[in-house]
Amino acid sequence: MSWLDERFGLSSVTQFLKNKLIPMHKHTIWSYTGSAILLFFVIQVLTGFILIFYYRPILEEANASVARIMTEVPLGWILRSVHSWSATFMIALLFVHLLSIWINKAYRRPRELTWMTGVMLFICSLLFGFTGYLLPWDDLSFSATKVGTDIPRAIPIVGEWVTKLLRGGEDVTGDTLTRFFGIHVCILPIFLLVLLAVHVYLIQKLGMSIPLESEKSKKKLKEIPFWPNFVYREAVLWLILFGVCLTVAIFFPPSLEKAADLMAPAPEGIKPEWYFLFLFQTLKIFPARLLFISGETAAVLLIFLGIVLFFFLPVIDNKPEERKGKIVRASAYLFILYALILTVWSLL
Ligand code: HEM
Repeated sequence: MSWLDERFGLSSVTQFLKNKLIPMHKHTIWSYTGSAILLFFVIQVLTGFILIFYYRPILEEANASVARIMTEVPLGWILRSVHSWSATFMIALLFVHLLSIWINKAYRRPRELTWMTGVMLFICSLLFGFTGYLLPWDDLSFSATKVGTDIPRAIPIVGEWVTKLLRGGEDVTGDTLTRFFGIHVCILPIFLLVLLAVHVYLIQKLGMSIPLESEKSKKKLKEIPFWPNFVYREAVLWLILFGVCLTVAIFFPPSLEKAADLMAPAPEGIKPEWYFLFLFQTLKIFPARLLFISGETAAVLLIFLGIVLFFFLPVIDNKPEERKGKIVRASAYLFILYALILTVWSLL
């Protein structure tokens, strides 16, 4: 350690982590979600590294290579299952992380950029899910990607172009598969790592937020050192979450249907991954026409507006204690209710 310290100056980092204090209050529990997301991201990267040795991103071989991972590669089925389940855990935790920050208004000044990089991380993670879904190249993933990549067509002016860009042509073909693979294993990881570096830097720089009530009353909160006390607590949660993820992955490995047939009609009941269901249902509940635009265009524009508002939430909610602040908090609960109802509805 002293050899490394002499060269890298590691002791200044450990000193910084020891001096970093975590405020303890009734919302501290939500501060564990960020590092739990990181845990699942690391699992995604490690399992992805091994899957990439066996997966073949070309039309004729993709499905068979996944079948080989499931049946021939030693422990391949567990690797694929953990990769798939860990993605689900990561996205579920992302929802909890961002909703807790929304409700507790932890994005308030000076953490606006932490929130904004967070929203971009969230979008990146959803795109990871969307592009990864196609890779097994079976009937279901092929048809779901066809539906998914058709949605941007509803955007005025640039829609057609976006769909073509995503697909690498008019239709979902082998080119789409190779494109999605490149996005999944190269482009998104680069974006995510850069965003993550900024997100984590800002968290270190600004420290953890404290609840609005404590900020107002100026009451001194109890604090514990980040290293080792807080990290030990986090480690307990990591172990539990990893155990649960591994258990679920062993008992419920993801299925693999037969290879997609480009000419076959779309199977019944195509559904995206669970985290897209509420958006999928939103598109469905719109009427065919709404005034002078198609219902789908209206829905897509509305979703886009929602994302923009969401991104600028800390700017919109700049006086958290006033009436507007209360409306913003209520909107978080409304969003939870809306997403739950539409998800259940889409499954009926
Ligand atoms: C790959 C995704 C993400 C990772 C790995 C991540 C990681 C973290 C970590 C480790 C923390 C510090 C501990 C904590 O508060 O939990 C944190 C805090 C924070 N995150 Fe994230 N995050 C991610 C996505 C997001 C998203 C989607 C948002 C919001 C849209 C967001 C907004 C914030 C904010 C505002 C804080 C500061 C909270 C405070 O000071 O109390 N993050 N994040």
